[in-house]
Amino acid sequence: MSTAMSTATSTAPLRVAVTGAAGQIGYALLPRIASGQMFGPEQPVILQLIEIPVEQPMKALEGVALELEDCAFPLLHDTILTSDPNVGFKDADWCLLVGSKPRGAGMERNDLILENGPIFTGQGRAINDRAASDVRVVVVGNPCNTNCLICMHSAPDVPDERFSAMTRLDQNRAQNQLARKAGVPSSAVTNTLVWGNHSATQVPDFFHTMIDGRPANEVIADEAWLKGEFLTTVQKRGAAIIKARGLSSAASAANALVDHVRDFRRATPKGEWRSACVKSDGSYGTSEGLISSFPVRVDAKGDWEIVPGLELNAFLEAKIAATVAELEQERDVVADLL
Ligand code: NAD
Ligand code: LMR
Repeated sequence: MSTAMSTATSTAPLRVAVTGAAGQIGYALLPRIASGQMFGPEQPVILQLIEIPVEQPMKALEGVALELEDCAFPLLHDTILTSDPNVGFKDADWCLLVGSKPRGAGMERNDLILENGPIFTGQGRAINDRAASDVRVVVVGNPCNTNCLICMHSAPDVPDERFSAMTRLDQNRAQNQLARKAGVPSSAVTNTLVWGNHSATQVPDFFHTMIDGRPANEVIADEAWLKGEFLTTVQKRGAAIIKARGLSSAASAANALVDHVRDFRRATPKGEWRSACVKSDGSYGTSEGLISSFPVRVDAKGDWEIVPGLELNAFLEAKIAATVAELEQERDVVADLL
């Protein structure tokens, strides 16, 4: 089904495929894309919305499309609704893979791996066969690092560097926690860095993150808080939201995905980085090939690199080793999907 709208702009539209589009994150995300917040105020988009072939979510998706129509977004050129990944990913420039089950209270994200992992084989194949030749893929559905690994392996013709998974939400959470503790606006916190898995073993790094241009651990002279409450608050923030809301984060997740895509579409300011999960090149004690969170810098052509040469102290080395061990374990669990 397609719900075309008229337009006054002349730039060719980007095709943006979103899975799980009738879900919570989808509901918060789609207006952000259609209004130009993700791809810019001059860039028209065609939304290719993918749900499961089940009556309730497909019906809900139709409702979401009606609401998008009622926003009269000038940049939204068309909206395609489908339960067929071969249709949904056709010619897609960006594939935002949100669709998958969220965890409930008391679960860890990787408890979802056997249920959600297989989704990413079929979607990877459809992206491989149907998407635009320069497609970019971002995985949000949990456990997002390992789901991204599965998707990447299922799309052998798409270069590995086109795949990423999201720790931008963790970056934003860490940035805000540090700003609050230091009594500064969040804009004073820069180069916020999260290593490893988007899980409770992730490593928010207070040595390389800066506050007003100085390392966070120098500005916040409270080592016990940094190594204790700060770390666990960021690591367990998703669970705290599930406990409070009865549902997993959606508005902040959609916001982080807008940030993540923008990070990959524009050059990172000199001397800065952003946190994103990309294929490991073996640096920083992270086994080659895993999808892990690193400091990532994007150049003017849109190519990214893992920022080299950061010094790791014993504390960081031990924490990164633990989160990498968890990623290796997840990879072993899904070995038959790789
Ligand atoms: P939700 O249950 O509200 O929506 C998920 C939607 O995905 C549903 O509408 C479902 O029908 C759809 N879906 C399931 N399988 C699909 C498939 N194969 N193809 C297309 N659609 C499919 O969940 P939500 O709150 O939107 O969260 C979605 C995922 O994002 C969860 O796995 C959640 O844990 C994860 N998440 C990740 C982050 C992150 O930072 N990486 C943050 C928040 C949530
Ligand atoms: C989050 O970090 O909020 C999401 O990954 C949802 C979750 O399960 O924690």
